[in-house]
Amino acid sequence: MSDDLQKLKDDTMSAVAAAGDMAALEALRVSALGKKGTITGRMKTLGGLEPAARKAAGQALNELKGAVAEAIEARKTALADAELEARLAGERLDVTLPARPDASGHIHPISQTLEELIAIFGEMGFTVAEGPDIEDDFHNFTALNIPPEHPARQEHDTFYLPALAGGSRMVLRTHTSPVQIRTMLETEPPIRIIVPGRTFRADSDATHSPMFHQVEGLVVDETTHMGHLKGTLIEFCRAFFGVEDLPVRFRPSYFPFTEPSAEVDIGCTRDGGQLKIGHGGDWLEILGCGMVHPKVLENCGIDPARYQGFAFGVGIERLAMLKYGMPDLRPFYDSDLRWLRHYGFAPLELPSLVRGL
Ligand code: PHE
Repeated sequence: MSDDLQKLKDDTMSAVAAAGDMAALEALRVSALGKKGTITGRMKTLGGLEPAARKAAGQALNELKGAVAEAIEARKTALADAELEARLAGERLDVTLPARPDASGHIHPISQTLEELIAIFGEMGFTVAEGPDIEDDFHNFTALNIPPEHPARQEHDTFYLPALAGGSRMVLRTHTSPVQIRTMLETEPPIRIIVPGRTFRADSDATHSPMFHQVEGLVVDETTHMGHLKGTLIEFCRAFFGVEDLPVRFRPSYFPFTEPSAEVDIGCTRDGGQLKIGHGGDWLEILGCGMVHPKVLENCGIDPARYQGFAFGVGIERLAMLKYGMPDLRPFYDSDLRWLRHYGFAPLELPSLVRGL
C-alpha cells in the first residue's frame, strides 16, 4: 500500500474511532465512502493508470474500502450498545421500592382467609396442591363420577371453551375437585392435601360471582374413615371462627363423587337481623364433604378395597364474608381502595394458629 493510501487509511480509521455519535459517524461515512468521498474519489482515478498498476491500486483501494466500511459498522454497534447502556442506567428503577412510600397496602380478605386455612390445615399435616383453571371434561366431571348425561352437569352452570379439533370442549373448572383426580392419578396414598384455587360458574348476584375461590381437601389412606372427616372439619370450623365450642352439624347431602355425602352447618343466631356465629339455635351451611366414592378411587387407579378417603370443598369468599361480616360479594373484585382499606388486613401479620387467627 502506498504511503499516502496508508495515511488515508490511518486518518479515516482514527476518525471512525473518534466519532462520538451516530450523526458524526454517518457524516464520516459519507465523506469517505459517499459519492464524493475521499475513497470513492480515489477509485475514480484508477481509469488513468496502466493495467498492471490499476490492478494493484484497485485491489489496495478495495481492501481499504472494505476495512473502513467494517470499522464503521463496528463503531456503529459499539455506539448503539453504549447508547442502550446509558438509557438503561438512566431509566433504572428499583421495583422493590413502595410505589407510594406514604401509603401502605392491605391484604385482600381472600388472601387473608386462604392464609388462615393454610395455617389451620398445615398444622394438621396437609400440604398444598394446585391444578389448572382450564380443565378437560374428564377431570372436571367424568372421573368424579359425573357422566355426560348426569343432571349435576346442569347444576354447575359451566363455562365451556370453543370446541377442539376432535369436538371435545375444555371448561373453566366449576370446582377444585378435579385436583383430587390429578393428585390421585399422580401420587400413591397416603394423600393429605388441600387445594386452593379459582373456580368458575355462570352465576352472578350479591352472593355469587362467576369467578370465585374454593379450597378442596382430600385425604386417602388405608384406615381413613368418617370419624376422621368429622374430627378434621369440626376442628377446622372451631379454629377458623375462633369459637372453641362452636356447634357443628353434619347434614346428609348428595355429591356424585362422595358416598356418603354431607353438608356442614355451624351454629349461629340471627337475632335482630344480625348474624352471629356461635351458640343460638340457628344453623348456617358452610361446606360440602363426604367419603370419596369407590368409583372415583377406581377411576384414579386406586384400589377401593384397600384404600378409602374423605374430601371436602369450601368457598373462600363465603368463609370470609361470614367471619368478617361482609354482606356483599361483589366488592371483592372491584379494587375499590376504600373497601380494601376497610376490609383489608395488615400485611405483616401472617395468620398462625399459635398467635390466633
Ligand atoms: N365440589 C363440591 C362443590 O363445588 C364440593 C365438595 C368437594 C363436596 C369435595 C364434597 C367433596 O360443590
